[in-house]
Amino acid sequence: MAAGGADIAGRRAAIIPAVNYHLTSFGCQMNDHDAERMRGLLESLGYREAADRDDADLILFNTCTIRGSADDRFLGNLGEARRIKRANPDVVVAVGGCWAQSQKEQVFTQFPFVDIAFGPGEITRLGELIARERIEAVGAFSFDGAFSGTLPAKRDRPHHAWVQVSVGCNCVCSYCIVPSVRGRERSRIASEIIAEVERLAADGVREVTLLGQNVNSYGRDLPKGARTTFAELLREVGSIPDIWRVRYTSPHPKDMRDDVIAAMAETPTLCEHVHLPAQSGSTRVLKRMRRTYSRERYLDLVGRIRDGVPDVSLTTDLIVGFPGETDEDFCDTLSLVHEVRYDGAFTFVYSERPGTEAAADMADDIPAALKSERIQALVDTVHQTARARAQRFVGAAHEVLVEGPSRNDPTRLRGRLRQNITVNFSGDADPGTLATVRITGASSATLAGQQIEVHAIA
Ligand code: SAH
Ligand code: SF4
Ligand code: F3S
Repeated sequence: MAAGGADIAGRRAAIIPAVNYHLTSFGCQMNDHDAERMRGLLESLGYREAADRDDADLILFNTCTIRGSADDRFLGNLGEARRIKRANPDVVVAVGGCWAQSQKEQVFTQFPFVDIAFGPGEITRLGELIARERIEAVGAFSFDGAFSGTLPAKRDRPHHAWVQVSVGCNCVCSYCIVPSVRGRERSRIASEIIAEVERLAADGVREVTLLGQNVNSYGRDLPKGARTTFAELLREVGSIPDIWRVRYTSPHPKDMRDDVIAAMAETPTLCEHVHLPAQSGSTRVLKRMRRTYSRERYLDLVGRIRDGVPDVSLTTDLIVGFPGETDEDFCDTLSLVHEVRYDGAFTFVYSERPGTEAAADMADDIPAALKSERIQALVDTVHQTARARAQRFVGAAHEVLVEGPSRNDPTRLRGRLRQNITVNFSGDADPGTLATVRITGASSATLAGQQIEVHAIA
């Protein structure tokens, strides 16, 4: 593993002293994971992480461009990097990730103080780009390089690991910029994924989340002899010793086949949670979004998942204010939330993205005031449903994987149910162990509880 990284490490160690980097990462779980890989790579090259951007020799951003608000947030941060670089011209400013990919070489004309720009497909080359930067500003934007999943990782959570199973997306959702900034879908071969999870287990990881933009279309691009289906991959990862919990995100409803539901039902380590992005509850809007399923087919799928995996928790992504969304369409989204009874949802206001089909062909015609009215109504509905759903845990004892101290009250512990719901509880279990917790209360987002016992799984 990381043969290229080790080579680069060898060369770099000879020419540079240890230096400090500061990394700010925005965006989704794929970016969180890419950031862990960037940290791992930089630290293998002798870099150390600085607590403050002001103390860094290398200021690195891992960017997101999914909505206009993501761009704005990043650009605010980039302004601060410009100020630091003005005061100290030796500082190197590097911008990676999806926003960088969307801008390509334009980054250097728009923001001349940026030294390095690279897309999500070029993370493995970061060491080389830094070395070349000494001579000229460098950009790298191809998608044919090695998977970043082959690099060393500095994990955020010791007992949990993200595992990249594929990159890119072949869908054509009309609102979405991801396919243009993450490229065509490419799957890693299963043996490489399994070997990575086995190494993680040996390193103390007890829970893995398999990652892909469209995670359940995994394997279709692999050559015939080396093809593994997503359901087979789930079963294989789910039977690796010492891995207690397996999750995956995000599946596309159109690729959610019965063999995946059967794998979840029959493999004890596969957790009872599916994040199933619906985007809208209106078939008319879904069609214009090019999601390729109707409301009815989505609901049918939900029914099959609930039948196969009792007590599954379901979460989703929803967009309001898509071009042409009528009051009736929006009411269909609200009624979908009631009908599915989601345990949670990420809710977004439509944002026009350059280069997408919707931006080219559909006017962004829902007034801002109406968009904010709709998102508020949707958020309220999601909270109501989630709170009602969470009540089913109250009073019973549940298995919690302990993550560490509670965020709001360090005298308590924080962990997660198999259904991916956070529990804050009193107890003394160690991080990375399983505890049985009696659930005493529920809000829409978290549960409260009291530890009863610690499981001894050896
Ligand atoms: N590959 C994943 C995640 C894609 S991005 C998936 O398909 O599920 C995460 C979410 O951002 C999407 O599910 C969608 O709800 C939202 N999103 C994407 N593009 C958007 C846009 N232009 N405006 C608003 N929300 C958007
Ligand atoms: Fe975007 Fe659709 Fe691909 Fe998800 S499935 S990343 S929403 S194009
Ligand atoms: Fe953002 Fe790129 Fe993820 S655009 S949501 S970081 S795939």
